[in-house]
Amino acid sequence: MSKLPVAFVSSEVAPWSQTGGLGDVGGALPQALNAQPDLDVIVFTPLYRSARAVVELRGLALEAIGDDFVLGEGTARLLRLVGGPTPTVFVDAPHLFHRPGLYGPGSGSAYTDTGKGAFDDNLERFSRFCEAVVTHGHRAFGAPIALYHCHDWQAALVPGLLPDGPERPGCVLTIHNLAYQGVFAGDQVLGRAAPPAYQRQGHLNLLAGAIAMADQVTTVSPHYAEEITTVAFGCGLEANLRWRGVTGIVNGIDASDWNPRQDPALPAPFDAADLRGRAEARRGLLAELGLPDEPGTLLLGVVSRLAGQKGPDLVAELVPRLGSLRARLIVLGSGEPAHEAHLQALSVRHRHRFGLRLDFDRELARRIYAGVDAILVPSRFEPCGLVQMYAMAYGALPIVSPVGGLVDTVTDASVPGEGTGFAMDAVHAAALARAVQRAGDLLRDEPEAWAALQQRAMATDWSWQASASAWARLFRGVMAPLAHAQPAA
Ligand code: GLC
Repeated sequence: MSKLPVAFVSSEVAPWSQTGGLGDVGGALPQALNAQPDLDVIVFTPLYRSARAVVELRGLALEAIGDDFVLGEGTARLLRLVGGPTPTVFVDAPHLFHRPGLYGPGSGSAYTDTGKGAFDDNLERFSRFCEAVVTHGHRAFGAPIALYHCHDWQAALVPGLLPDGPERPGCVLTIHNLAYQGVFAGDQVLGRAAPPAYQRQGHLNLLAGAIAMADQVTTVSPHYAEEITTVAFGCGLEANLRWRGVTGIVNGIDASDWNPRQDPALPAPFDAADLRGRAEARRGLLAELGLPDEPGTLLLGVVSRLAGQKGPDLVAELVPRLGSLRARLIVLGSGEPAHEAHLQALSVRHRHRFGLRLDFDRELARRIYAGVDAILVPSRFEPCGLVQMYAMAYGALPIVSPVGGLVDTVTDASVPGEGTGFAMDAVHAAALARAVQRAGDLLRDEPEAWAALQQRAMATDWSWQASASAWARLFRGVMAPLAHAQPAA
């Protein structure tokens, strides 16, 4: 069987570049796809200044594929990563990507298209990225690309650039967060009028264009796939999504990376059979954050971008209630300055119950998952969410809002024999406090029931294998009607 050449097009690919969950998926999913017998996946991503630095730091080499080419106002080339775990090709276009930051110079610019703090040439940067992959990507395979798998608005111009007719390759769009659509003024892209599907009420909407022109639209959990066809979650594109249909395939996590038995960031290894390492992680964490250890308290953690989507205001409202809830809280995150300032002020006032680190610190995040009793994920919407899966793998029970992928990945403690966490009954501060109360009561009054939840959470298989075979099926479904156009293998 000849393998299907698939171009995985993403603006974030860990460990080279990352502002959020897209980077995790860009780093892990292609590897899982390549473990499928019939897929030959190559990742295409921009060579940001920071990405080049990571490549150099790891002592890896980059090798040019073919000649330089003109890309917009400058020259570009494709550089193949030599020796990485996943076949990866960087689009090296210094005039577009050699600067600090991915979407803007600031740290709070995750997924930003035109928002505050974004580079003002993001339309040019990411549409040229798409152009480079569509025009020159085949060089990496030595054969035509059969299928493009495009992620979010940054890669959304791809289906608009593919040729019409029998030679047209397949194209799958995956939406990781519908709140970011790639909306820009005007009607021009790549120096000409954008395809009509990309034009919307006098401006450009890259994601809307791809929703119309891709062969299949997917998102990162089944529940979010349903939600985004409604006004409440559709961000103005609900009708488009209803019309096209959207499939949800839940994300996974890299189980070899997220394993408390062998995580160098933890003070001591542990697993479901021997949790002593968790107690050690807890002690270290409390000491690190300067919080007193009092028996009978529920230790809560938050690891999050501090953006409205993630409900940092709900977390802030919880802080004054920590005393009556007999809980302590540790928050690690960075993001919007207003949320940072608010939490900062609270951490001064409530310093014995609330520890705050305004940072993006991968190692501390792992120690939090290992040391706290429960992780709060009070998102207003959550396409999939990865934090709750990392937490469960490390034995921290998630307390989550009843939205998106959180519904698909966390089962409430009230479901006999199946619970893995706590679901809030609504998305507001009182509902969060109620869920925290419920968790605290269970921990104190029914420790065996808590232990059973924890065992179940830790035993759940969050690896990519299951979703990778769903992806492979979906790809085959997209290719089937196009098969007549492909040369016989
Ligand atoms: C975005 C979403 C998050 C999802 C991630 C990866 O960050 O907000 O819910 O898990 O993308 O798909």
